[in-house]
Amino acid sequence: MSVDRVALYPNGLEISSLVYGAWRLLNPPLHGQVPAIQRLLNLCLEHGITTFDHADIYGSYQCEELFGRCLAPALRDRMELVTKCGIRLVSPSRPYHRVKSYDTSTAHILQSVDQSLINLRTDYIDLLLIHRPDPLMDADAVAEAVSQLKRSGKIRAFGVSNFLPAQFDLLQSRCPEPLATNQIEAHPLRPSVFFDGTFDHAQRLRYRPMIWSPLGAGRLWDHSDLSGLLLTRAAELGCSVEGLVLAWLRRHPAGLVPVIGTTNEQRLLAILQDTALRIDAETWHEILQAGMGHELP
Ligand SMILES: NC(=O)c1ccc[n+]([C@@H]2O[C@H](COP(=O)([O-])OP(=O)(O)OC[C@H]3O[C@@H](n4cnc5c(N)ncnc54)[C@H](OP(=O)(O)O)[C@@H]3O)[C@@H](O)[C@H]2O)c1
Repeated sequence: MSVDRVALYPNGLEISSLVYGAWRLLNPPLHGQVPAIQRLLNLCLEHGITTFDHADIYGSYQCEELFGRCLAPALRDRMELVTKCGIRLVSPSRPYHRVKSYDTSTAHILQSVDQSLINLRTDYIDLLLIHRPDPLMDADAVAEAVSQLKRSGKIRAFGVSNFLPAQFDLLQSRCPEPLATNQIEAHPLRPSVFFDGTFDHAQRLRYRPMIWSPLGAGRLWDHSDLSGLLLTRAAELGCSVEGLVLAWLRRHPAGLVPVIGTTNEQRLLAILQDTALRIDAETWHEILQAGMGHELP
């Protein structure tokens, strides 16, 4: 089984249709250990997961650098690296940050990308995302940073994360090239995202949303009605529960691209086993309603 490749928007950046997220590299059982992380990365690459999702702030500003140490230089051109910027965390490694805040100024974006390039030991980022909408965002300032980064070859594509359609449209109005994606949280315990216009916007503009915490960050299994249904349907379909939830996301016509975060090799292999699974619309609605906790109106 090998994961397909998809374009994030027509004629746009190609990535793997399943992405691995690097947020949990310092968590148990990996604990930031290079050999364990390298094993997981190699497993991903062997099965066609070539796209790795980062942010400057992951692991309190440590995950990118750790990933860079794990990355054999020969592997760089076999993968796509996504990273984000725009959040300033209070962290021991940033003692001058007094409170958590957002910064989408030209200077901050340029400085953050330069640091990500050093951390990841590369000279280009495939996809840069603004991590969260900044109430003080000046769309012209972001567009200026993107234009400089593209001209210098430091980024190949640019997009956003956690943006409302109107915020996306504002930024798009100042950027000459299409924004590549909007990375959004979606899973059965977040049903509102299927009704609030987020994915309608993606279909209209024909970009594929990337989906963070597609397995609800592990919380799906704390909800007995939902997990009971997932177990029953997974047994009937002969798949894993994780594979079923990812098939549920893939069933959406906006072409969602899940960013998974498991640190468990067996779970990763089970997910890979089920990448061809397709579910019908009735099963899709059944899972939606179990996540909503009530019947559709
Ligand atoms: N743009 C944003 O604002 C944003 C925000 C958050 C995350 N992200 C990105 O999204 C990526 C994925 O997020 P995520 O890690 O929350 O995704 P996820 O795949 O939904 O969750 C992974 C977590 O769920 C646990 N899990 C999975 N299946 C389970 C099961 N059957 N029973 C119990 N636990 C289970 C995993 O444990 P095991 O490790 O034991 O499998 C792991 O702790 C991140 O790495 C990051 O790149 C982006």
